[in-house]
Amino acid sequence: MRRQPAGQQRERIFIEAGAIVRAAEYLKEHAENSELFVLTDLNTHLHCLPILSALTERKTILHELELPAGDMSKNPDNLSRIWGWLTSHNAGRKSLLVNLGGGMVSDIGGFAASTYMRGIRFVNIPTSLLAMVDASVGGKTGINFNNVKNQVGTFSLPYAVFIDPRFLNTLPHREILSGYAEMIKHALIFSEEEWNRIRYRSIPDSEDWTGLIRNSISFKSRIVQSDFRDRGIRQSLNFGHTFGHAYEILSNEAEPDKVRHGEAVAWGMLAELYLSVRLKGLPAGVLEDYVQLYQRLYNTHTTGIDPQRLIRKMYSDKKNITGSVRPVLLRNIASPEPEIISDDILLQKAIDFANEASVSEKV
Ligand SMILES: NC(=O)c1ccc[n+]([C@@H]2O[C@H](COP(=O)([O-])OP(=O)(O)OC[C@H]3O[C@@H](n4cnc5c(N)ncnc54)[C@H](O)[C@@H]3O)[C@@H](O)[C@H]2O)c1
Repeated sequence: MRRQPAGQQRERIFIEAGAIVRAAEYLKEHAENSELFVLTDLNTHLHCLPILSALTERKTILHELELPAGDMSKNPDNLSRIWGWLTSHNAGRKSLLVNLGGGMVSDIGGFAASTYMRGIRFVNIPTSLLAMVDASVGGKTGINFNNVKNQVGTFSLPYAVFIDPRFLNTLPHREILSGYAEMIKHALIFSEEEWNRIRYRSIPDSEDWTGLIRNSISFKSRIVQSDFRDRGIRQSLNFGHTFGHAYEILSNEAEPDKVRHGEAVAWGMLAELYLSVRLKGLPAGVLEDYVQLYQRLYNTHTTGIDPQRLIRKMYSDKKNITGSVRPVLLRNIASPEPEIISDDILLQKAIDFANEASVSEKV
């Protein structure tokens, strides 16, 4: 594999059944000249590392570090642990970090690699659906800090991303649904055609995911290429996240990992679609269709959250300016627009709507 030209803001993304074979070839090649470091979590160590190891020569994977599973692991202590692990094994500028896991692993691993010795090369091998369609691509890395999601991080592209849907065979159904929420989000902000497909489709079971993942990623990749540093159009990818992040943090405060990232985004899209109807004239039918989809897929895992706490949490988010929140709303499908809201009553109404839609009977 050739070296990426300096300044090129585009990662190599391989999406195919068998991408892991390609990854193993690359790692073997790399291991001839320098050391490999593989970061996993408890579950990907158990289910995914053996698949990769079986494809590489025994001596290829030299160092491995396993973190506890779950978003709470994306913290400064674990970041320091990764730096310490790299240091203790004399990782140098030519070393390669392999992030083998979901979004937690690629976020913290990418951050560690991009800061260790001012940056070493890393590749992502995403193993969850959410990481395949979203977290592993686009170059955002980071950790949670002071109870704020992704408060500290970098923009650093992985050298390559190897997406092999075979890892989904061991992924729990709830995690599949979590990743599916980001696919729904991509459909709503980018493509009416995709939205019309996704809202009627049931979750693929053993069906080949490759085409669906490729489609979903293509939307994100286009946006990332035109606005890598998230100063304009890339912010549309935050749709569902203004309410979703606050919901995720508060739900997980009392009980770690109670709510999955994608579940929180699915809930956040309820509130933000409600606001889209009120403020942007989004046809109410889109909101109704989304509520039906939400109730079919996500209702079992939602928690009722006190609106006032949620509003306070949103005001403290790094993306919001003091005294206002800045969600992305939709004028229509595939027509996202930023909005600034400082009306607490309206925010409360959106939260009440989402809470009510969450607890109503399944359709
Ligand atoms: N950087 C970005 O652009 C970006 C975008 C979206 C989300 N994120 C971040 O990604 C994270 C969420 O990603 P996630 O949902 O992948 O979370 P995760 O990494 O915590 O994975 C979810 C669960 O699935 C398990 N798992 C992963 N792959 C498995 C497999 N093949 N078999 C069995 N179990 C497996 C994990 O161990 C974990 O328990 C959040 O931290 C979020 O902030 C980042």
